[in-house]
Amino acid sequence: MTKVIYPGSFDPLTFGHIDVIERSLRLFDQVVVAIITNPSKQPLFTVEERREMLEEIVKKRFPKVEVDVFHGLLVDYAKRKKAQAIVRGIRAVADYEYEFQMALMNRRLASQIETVFMMPAEHYIYLSSRLVKEIAELGGSVKGLVPDIVEKRLRKRLRKA
Ligand code: PNS
Repeated sequence: MTKVIYPGSFDPLTFGHIDVIERSLRLFDQVVVAIITNPSKQPLFTVEERREMLEEIVKKRFPKVEVDVFHGLLVDYAKRKKAQAIVRGIRAVADYEYEFQMALMNRRLASQIETVFMMPAEHYIYLSSRLVKEIAELGGSVKGLVPDIVEKRLRKRLRKA
């Protein structure tokens, strides 16, 4: 059985992330979507809120995908989960430097775990959680960029603010 960890902040989940999950399922038997609990960035949604949204979406579409939360080093988490690989979505050239740096550092820390990069569909190349939050905060439409559940939660959260 091949297992891959798809780690990230997922603040919030976008169709770009879902695209990477779908592609990962074509290559791996098991996919674990792992939300980091202590990102350096100040998140809009709590880890529990992000987990709830992910579980709701993933359970409906991909019952084989596990949603989990992790803290500490990603490679240690991957070893605990007995995963062979880490998957990361890569979009524009701007992503490469940061992603290569992380992949090579992770390889130094645990050479048995491979990093696999996936390119999302072209129409998601410009999509990021950061832009989704910015657009939603400024009253723009994020329809077609995030699942309906996320769109509703964004509206609710930003109304409260
Ligand atoms: O969605 P993001 O915020 O780009 O995801 C970044 C993430 C979670 C993949 C990265 O911050 C990470 O792996 N953090 C865990 C801590 C760790 O292992 N750091 C060393 C990386 S070389």
